[in-house]
Amino acid sequence: MAFPPSFIDELIARNPIEDVVGQYVSLKRSGSNLFGLCPFHGEKTASFSVAPDKGIYYCFGCHKGGGVVNFMMEVEGLSYPDAVRALAKRAGMEVPEDEQYQSRYRKQERLWALMKEAGRFYHSQLYAPVGAECLAYVQKRGLSKSIVTRFGIGFAPNSWNALVDAMKKKGYTDEELKDADLVGEKNGRIYDRFRNRLMFPIFDVRGNVIGFGGRVLDDSKPKYLNTSETLIFNKRKNLFGLNFAKKTKLDYMILVEGNIDVVALHQYGFDCAVASLGTSLTEEHAALLSRYTEQVVLTYDSDEAGQRAAQRAIPMLEKAGIQVKVLQIRDAKDPDEYLKKFGADKFKLLLEESSNRVEYQLNAVARKYEMKDDEQRIRFIHEAAELISTLGSAVQREIYGHRVAETGKISFEAMKLEIDKAFKRRIAREKKKQEKIDLAPAQAMQPKSRSIRYVNMKSAMAEETVIAMVLKEPALLDQAKELKPAAFSSALLGKVYGQLKQRHEQGLEVSLAVLEDCTAEEISHVTGVLQRQQGPVNEAALADCIRTIRAEHQLAGVSTEDDLLALRNQLKERKGIKA
Ligand code: GTP
Ligand code: MN
Repeated sequence: MAFPPSFIDELIARNPIEDVVGQYVSLKRSGSNLFGLCPFHGEKTASFSVAPDKGIYYCFGCHKGGGVVNFMMEVEGLSYPDAVRALAKRAGMEVPEDEQYQSRYRKQERLWALMKEAGRFYHSQLYAPVGAECLAYVQKRGLSKSIVTRFGIGFAPNSWNALVDAMKKKGYTDEELKDADLVGEKNGRIYDRFRNRLMFPIFDVRGNVIGFGGRVLDDSKPKYLNTSETLIFNKRKNLFGLNFAKKTKLDYMILVEGNIDVVALHQYGFDCAVASLGTSLTEEHAALLSRYTEQVVLTYDSDEAGQRAAQRAIPMLEKAGIQVKVLQIRDAKDPDEYLKKFGADKFKLLLEESSNRVEYQLNAVARKYEMKDDEQRIRFIHEAAELISTLGSAVQREIYGHRVAETGKISFEAMKLEIDKAFKRRIAREKKKQEKIDLAPAQAMQPKSRSIRYVNMKSAMAEETVIAMVLKEPALLDQAKELKPAAFSSALLGKVYGQLKQRHEQGLEVSLAVLEDCTAEEISHVTGVLQRQQGPVNEAALADCIRTIRAEHQLAGVSTEDDLLALRNQLKERKGIKA
């Protein structure tokens, strides 16, 4: 989607980055920059910076950065065009839309409207005569009327055309109903996909209905029918209940498996419960959660499948910077059943008792072995020591060491020895890894993100400097006229350079904030480049860089057959001299 560049310039000028960021982060001025707590990762000291003169933000902690549009994309989870629209709205500007984008956006808007209508329809059917049996089921499951209203829970009648007819009356087409995955199709005729099911609307964080999960009213299979991928719905990127949970005052979120568990927890006052949508937790889910909370209490079903899923979810959440606790449901199969049996106060106790992930993992390890068998007991102690050695604090290592010594029926001294050994092995491993990095400086200069790699480090360093210099002093681009983007060894830096060059030639703004067609990772990387640049910014320095880039580019072109032959001959000659 390409907006006219002059429009983007005006948009950026009318949305000063410090104002926009200031709506999300409280900023303090220090020199020409402003600092605050990074909204993208949990931190206690301010490493998030905004440079109004450059029109950029950059976090020295998590290395995210970019211009004002990138900030909106990142903080609100918007696509590039949607972020532009949001900023235009903020500044009271009219958005010039190109046709393709307009049609896609219109289609999305129609689907959102259709899903909302469908949700209303299902909800109304719950209280219609056809919904009597479902309403009885809802009551049997103990869902209060107010929670049913809040979550918009409904009933899909046992009919092939109830929804189709109702939506067609509202002016929606067969095509739109198919695009929304609300219908199936046979012999050219569409029919209701959800029949005789209890319907849970799925909302995105902004409150749009984007999908449905439909549960049977008995034990028949499949238990749930869910909306599959559509233009507006992706189960890997959304969490059931997050639109409500994101407003919680609690400083943690409860992650459960079932839709019913989420609803029950909210009804009992735990308004921070969310569930992944019938899939195992994804990296996208974890990243999404990390935007709203620093701590997650995993509360999966007590059966084996639930426990396995919890083990898989732990590293995923930790990688996203979330502190993980695990709550073990006892004497009930899931949180919903627990609440019904024992009430909110008992659940609160479970929450307070919920252990950090190491405790949980230790229990899991202990369950694997038969302590009466000496051989197995030894294996248990080794594995537990390995696990405890991952703890950063000596106090924690001691506490858990005592516990395992007791379970493994050995003295604490012996256990401590075992943990220390594991700890030292770990430190040695990490040191070796670090040494390897230190010994390979080229490696250390590689971009942090794995998807961006420099193939020619010498050239890439010069390319980085060129980008940083022209961003600081766009007039230098006049001098770089003969430097072509194709000469860049890094495709990303070449792309960025090309865009800046073109803008300069058209007399438009040259800044990071105007870059298009880059991923968040790429923008962050380039922002980091600009932040790090410290050398002189002048014609001589630029000329040096250009020379390096061209020389490296020519060298890279050496690989024709003739050149290779020539090289080989040269080598032979040299050997001949030596011999
Ligand atoms: P109860 O059995 O009433 O406690 O319902 P629940 O909502 O807690 O469901 P359950 O714990 O059995 O499953 C957890 C989640 O997995 C559900 O909320 C669904 O999102 C998903 N799920 C369960 N069964 C199916 C199925 O048959 N198909 C699909 N696609 N998803 C399912
Ligand atoms: Mn359940």
